[in-house]
Parts: sequence; C-alpha cells; structure tokens
Amino acid sequence: MDDDLDAMEGAGPSGSNGMFTTIAVAAVLILAALTAGLVANRRPAGDPGALAGGDAEALVAEGKRLYDWRCVSCHGPSGRGDGPIARSLQGPGPGDLTDDEWTHGDAPDQVLAVITKGVPDTQMAGWDTAFNPDELRALAAYMYRLAGREVPEDLLDGAGG
Ligand code: HEC
Repeated sequence: MDDDLDAMEGAGPSGSNGMFTTIAVAAVLILAALTAGLVANRRPAGDPGALAGGDAEALVAEGKRLYDWRCVSCHGPSGRGDGPIARSLQGPGPGDLTDDEWTHGDAPDQVLAVITKGVPDTQMAGWDTAFNPDELRALAAYMYRLAGREVPEDLLDGAGG
C-alpha cells in the first residue's frame, strides 16, 4: 500500500496529480472561452423607446450598442477600420468611417443602403436579415456620430429609410 503511494508520488509533477491539474485548468479555460463566446453573441439589451423616433441621442446610443456588437470586429471601436479581423479580410479593407469621404456616399439613404444591402464583392455584408429597419436606422445614425457629423433629421423619424 505504502509502496504504491510512494510509486505514484515518485512520478512527480508530470504524474497523475500533474495530469489532473492540467486537465482541470484546461477545462476551466474552455468553459471560460465558451461563456465569453456566448456573452459576445448575445444581443445587447436594447431600449425600445430609443427607436420610437425623435430623440437623436437615444437613437445614436442604440446604434452604438448594435455597432459595438456586430461591426467593431472589422470597423474598430472608433470606426477607423482597425478592428481585430480587419487585416485578414479578403478584398478591400473596411476603410475609415471617421474621415470626410464615404466611398458610398454620405446622404442618409446611401449610408442606410450600404448597411442594409452591403457592398458586393467585399466583406461588407448586408445586415437586413440581422436587424429590423429601426435598428438599421440607428446604426446609420451612429455612423454620423462616429464621423463627428450631425445626425441627419431624416434618420430620426425613419423618413430616410
Ligand atoms: C466582416 C467585416 C465587416 C463587418 C462585420 C462590417 N463591415 Fe462595414 N465594411 C466592411 C468593408 C470591407 C467595407 C468597405 C467596402 C468597400 O470598400 O466598398 C465596409 C464598408 C462600410 C460602410 C461604407 C463606408 C463608406 O466609406 O462608404 C459602412 C457605412 C459600413 N461598412 C457600416 C457597417 C456597419 C454599420 C456594420 C455592422 C452592422 C458593418 N459595417 C459591419 C467590412 C465590414
């Protein structure tokens, strides 16, 4: 009996104890990663009132919430096109949303169209299956805020879409 124990302990850190610790640590890490993934994929709590119309600040806040959820990976937190996967995209990069030149136009309906339908032959997808029209409007409004521009009236009440 004692001999058996000694033999096991003799195996040292790479023996069964070390192995168990390694497995336990790995399990905890995997669980943590899964939990983080679930949280990241969960739709952020919205504010239905924000989309009702009229209030630019509430609309922009809603747009930011959605942007931080689904758009930052490419466009980056400040919209400069420096998101974590921006460099690995095939085709043109996400560009800089904060500069004066918006490739696809800066009229509210143009911005809304890009977000809704995407840009063919680029990694910019259309988001109309992910978001309802009010949410798309909130995202468009947030593009103007990112660029330091005034949010167009058209976006506030849905007239732009
Ligand atoms: C997988 C990466 C990716 C994600 C995620 C993504 N975009 Fe894009 N986006 C791009 C790329 C690439 C372009 C540039 C397309 C081009 O060069 O014409 C672009 C272009 C745009 C433009 C046009 C910019 C201009 O200069 O006219 C807008 C606006 C935009 N994205 C908004 C969004 C919003 C809002 C979301 C989230 C709902 C989003 N994007 C998510 C990759 C992405």
